[in-house]
Amino acid sequence: AAASASRKDDHVRLAAAQRREPATRNDFDDVELVHHALDGIDASEVDLRTRVAHWTWRSPLYLNGMTGGTPKTTAVNRELAVAARETGMPMGSGSIGIALDDPDAAAGFRVIREENPAGLVFANIGVGRSADEARRAVDLLEADALQVHLNAVQETIMPEGSRAFSGWAASLEAIVAASEVPVIVKEVGFGLSRRTLERLRDMGVRLADVSGSGGTDFARIENARRSASDYAFLIGHGSSAVRSLLDAPEDGPTPLGSGGVRTPLDAVRALALGARAVGVAGAFLAPAVSGGAAEVVAVVRTWTSQLRDLHALFGAPTPEALLTKDVLVHGGVREFCELRGIDARALARRSEDQ
Ligand code: FNR
Repeated sequence: AAASASRKDDHVRLAAAQRREPATRNDFDDVELVHHALDGIDASEVDLRTRVAHWTWRSPLYLNGMTGGTPKTTAVNRELAVAARETGMPMGSGSIGIALDDPDAAAGFRVIREENPAGLVFANIGVGRSADEARRAVDLLEADALQVHLNAVQETIMPEGSRAFSGWAASLEAIVAASEVPVIVKEVGFGLSRRTLERLRDMGVRLADVSGSGGTDFARIENARRSASDYAFLIGHGSSAVRSLLDAPEDGPTPLGSGGVRTPLDAVRALALGARAVGVAGAFLAPAVSGGAAEVVAVVRTWTSQLRDLHALFGAPTPEALLTKDVLVHGGVREFCELRGIDARALARRSEDQ
């Protein structure tokens, strides 16, 4: 438990440090909404409300699952929870696994609900747990949904990580079948492929957060924590949110987009590529660590206001309307589309079908 606790502190420290570096290029830079100079509408006409499962969210932004369970991360969770309450933003917790058998750690997660009694809260658990453990995680937070994370790359790099993945599908199926709240299956920064999304669909999963590469990089974080032999060669492995969203099957789970979202423009790009809502972890963690809830609230308000302005600029009265806007994909993303048989040319001219 002690090793697990110090890991949680390391994750927050190293992820926040990654954010203080200059924003790095990622696949969102290869996604360009074509500028049509006469297409703009009034910002006052924009309605950012978004339907996800049976909810209507006031904006498509949500705070993705990160942390909890140690004194330091409990303090971070308190700041994030207050910010979620003040902005009405849905919020995920960090993995509750460590709290299932440790009442002291449990308090570090419960703070998310205590500070935000009426908010939309997601519990979080790693795949491989039993349906009963998943239910206990939901109960701990009186959660409205359950995030189940798939993190095989991270486990491989962590010295204390698992290397036994063959039971994951059965675990997931059992959790999904038994859960009384919607299940959101997510990656932790390595993306979900078409094949994975099809398998999730067949298991009855309705919501999947692709959580791709290009933002918080657990390969880098775990390598920074290791002392001896490392897995530096896995840094950058995986698929970005952009690629995952392009690859997503039409009849798959409702896609949520996260991983590498640095700005409101990245959020617009994710929405235009099919994300129903957009998750942000690292970019909202940094202000929580440096300035607490007030700073997170200020950042979220700026993002929301800019998100509205960008909808007006692109002539999209709703997030859904972004799905009819012309999008150019460049560079490695274009190559990905060619190799995966995705029609990037149709994407570039889709406003003509309107
Ligand atoms: C995470 N993430 C994460 N995900 C999860 O499902 N369970 C978890 O316990 C954690 N823990 C965690 C800790 C910290 C400090 C960070 C920054 C992130 C992953 C997170 O939800 C998200 O998938 C990735 O961080 C990618 O998004 P960003 O950071 O690029 O916006």
